[in-house]
Amino acid sequence: MRGIICLVILAISGLDAITVTRAPANTGVLIGNNATLYCTVTNIGAGESVIWKKTPLVIGLDGSSTNTAKYAIIGQYNVVVMNAQIADEGQFECEAGGNQYSIMLSVGDVPTGLSIYWGANLNTPIMNAANNLTCQSTNSRPPATFKWYKGTTDVTSQALTLNGTVNSNGYGDSYSYLEVTPTSSNSGDVYRCEASVPGRDNALNETMTLSGGAADVAHSLTMMAAAILGSFVLSSYAH
Ligand SMILES: *[C@@H]1O[C@H](CO)[C@@H](O)[C@H](O)[C@H]1NC(C)=O
Ligand SMILES: *[C@@H]1O[C@H](CO)[C@@H](O)[C@H](O)[C@H]1NC(C)=O
Ligand SMILES: *[C@@H]1O[C@H](CO)[C@@H](O)[C@H](O)[C@H]1NC(C)=O
Ligand SMILES: *[C@@H]1O[C@H](CO)[C@@H](O)[C@H](O)[C@H]1NC(C)=O
Repeated sequence: MRGIICLVILAISGLDAITVTRAPANTGVLIGNNATLYCTVTNIGAGESVIWKKTPLVIGLDGSSTNTAKYAIIGQYNVVVMNAQIADEGQFECEAGGNQYSIMLSVGDVPTGLSIYWGANLNTPIMNAANNLTCQSTNSRPPATFKWYKGTTDVTSQALTLNGTVNSNGYGDSYSYLEVTPTSSNSGDVYRCEASVPGRDNALNETMTLSGGAADVAHSLTMMAAAILGSFVLSSYAH
């Protein structure tokens, strides 16, 4: 009998316990936009609270915000970070009953430009040889990440991405290299790169289409031989 009573009490307190139905997740937002961080709860019991922090500061207690110019608490315990600025980037926490969730808010700014080119800024690749199809993103926060597609196939895992120098506000360029060895049968292949920042996936994209008329290796070797011969003739002349 006593066991049954205990079970009943457990079941009742279990029903009463606060339940988080939507926990916050890492979130990206563009500068100047609003970000909603979710902490949706049900079964909030007497004496239980939902506390939001921008670690370590409390910014929301149940329905009320400590700074209404920056944070709104909506429906019922989600927080809206308004007019996101670089200073808003960082760790946020929702505490609901005994549950605690910690996430990152990242603040992004779109690149000012994106360009795509072959190797050393060439418009055409060298046929039948490895070429770096290069995508360059300029001055985003943080340096943009890239996705690559060949037609509709995602080939991102084949690319190598490097960041340039990042300034004190987190802005910088980034470069992504996709090695492609084109043959005449690749004529018409379409490559696309997409640059993304927190808060804006595919902020900019560029495409490059392989044409049949690209210079081939034999042609560039001839050009190189001519150039070497030319400099030899010039230096012979100087003597
Ligand atoms: C952000 O939210 C506030 C309050 O709801 C609203 O006044 C403002 O227009 C929103 N800003 C943007 C960029 O959506
Ligand atoms: C492509 O660029 C990467 C990174 O700079 C380099 O390691 C690789 O050798 C390059 N490949 C070609 C074919 O130039
Ligand atoms: C480049 O910057 C991005 C953030 O934009 C970061 O995720 C990535 O790890 C950085 N890559 C390198 C090689 O440092
Ligand atoms: C490329 O970016 C433009 C905006 O710059 C967008 O309208 C378009 O949908 C994007 N294309 C693809 C295939 O993602």
